[in-house]
Amino acid sequence: MDKSICFITALFGNDDKLDVPGRFKRNPEYDYFLFTDINEECLDVDWDVINIKDHPEIIKVSSSVRKSRYPKFMSWKLLESFGKKYDAIFYCDAWLTPDINKNWEEFSDKMKNNDFGFLQAPHHIKSIRNGGILAEMTLIRKAGKDIQHSMVKTRSYLQSYDSSVNLSESQYYANTIFGYDPNNETVRKMLDEFWSMYATEEITHRDQPLWNFLLLKHNVKPINMPTDLFIRNGVYKKRSYMNDIRTQIINILIDKIGAEHYLEIGLGDAYNFNSVSCKNKVSVDPCISDDSRNSNPTFKMTSDEFFAQNNQNFDVIFIDGLHHADQVEKDINNSLRFLKKNGYIVCHDISPTSEAMQIVPQAQKEWTGDCWRAWVKIRSTNPNVYMFVVNADMGCGIIQKGSQSLLRLSMECSELTYEHLNVNRKLWLNLVSIDDF
Ligand SMILES: C[S@@+](CC[C@H](N)C(=O)[O-])C[C@H]1O[C@@H](n2cnc3c(N)ncnc32)[C@H](O)[C@@H]1O
Repeated sequence: MDKSICFITALFGNDDKLDVPGRFKRNPEYDYFLFTDINEECLDVDWDVINIKDHPEIIKVSSSVRKSRYPKFMSWKLLESFGKKYDAIFYCDAWLTPDINKNWEEFSDKMKNNDFGFLQAPHHIKSIRNGGILAEMTLIRKAGKDIQHSMVKTRSYLQSYDSSVNLSESQYYANTIFGYDPNNETVRKMLDEFWSMYATEEITHRDQPLWNFLLLKHNVKPINMPTDLFIRNGVYKKRSYMNDIRTQIINILIDKIGAEHYLEIGLGDAYNFNSVSCKNKVSVDPCISDDSRNSNPTFKMTSDEFFAQNNQNFDVIFIDGLHHADQVEKDINNSLRFLKKNGYIVCHDISPTSEAMQIVPQAQKEWTGDCWRAWVKIRSTNPNVYMFVVNADMGCGIIQKGSQSLLRLSMECSELTYEHLNVNRKLWLNLVSIDDF
């Protein structure tokens, strides 16, 4: 027999920053689904796990955050494609679980009997409730959950989509939990519209600004949802989106020059590579590290071996292989030989934040190596490039063909210490903030 109520959550990605779902008691009258791209054996949960990693809409978008938004907003469509129909679908973030003692039928009925069958709580922060979309976007940037570049793009995208929507309107709802009637035509249309806009990746990966924009555009208000319908018994992991900044920077540069050929030196577990949006992508890794052992680079070899046989030019090259100064220097110089005229090289881990993390050989998990030494050497010897480092994600160095005035150093780069770097960091690296990038 068909069940009338379904709960869903989503968990995507393969890093240690993922929320941990709590255990909970199920009501046998209802269905409970966790949509994911993680192998079921790795998940010990009370949800029924549905792996949708190969779904075309999931493959289409780049990051794990974006992937998780497909089931979050479109599970009604997914479930219908599996032949499952419900009167009500309730979503919660994966660290929350539905409270078995609540009267879910009552909320299902409320949604069914409303023109706009959507249940949601107003945002818990007053300044966001009052200041609307723009207020939240300011806070998203300040909290390091996305970057200024993305906020600017989001604002202009939303304004050009419908300029009559007031982005400062004092109406703002939270998306941590919500419920809806999947048979309500307005709801279906709006969720479809949400996904078609979100999947373009022209806007921030945070979903609240877009959803609230659509509520205003369609002049609808959700039914108020009590926030205690779900229990907080899982583990909420505060994700530092700034750790993914390298990927955002690479995608911004690809977008900026319409790049079609991307090279990544040092694939690792392909976390970054899989989220880079470019027509042709090539990766190089000898697969000697723990994280790269199971990955599948285009060229399974060292960067030196790769460049020795390469005859292809690239628009954007990401250098993230062996983090030793002499190797990084070789990788940069080789990359310059195969970089197209207006292309960019991005070098990871150029600005270590402690002495220990840059010591070679590697002695701790959080490690940048001494890539910074290669950077400083090129800053002091090659006048035919322009170089700066974005101060995020351990320093993302960006190199273009061009010109720079050379640093004057009083000693060989190999003799420089971390203390020297620390004192001269801004000048030597040509450090810029993520907002100025
Ligand atoms: C930090 S991981 C790369 C992470 C990945 N770029 C990301 O952002 O998700 C460094 C990788 O460089 C690879 N590597 C080590 N020596 C290399 C070399 N000489 N040439 C190319 N890659 C190398 C290692 O096997 C490891 O997988």
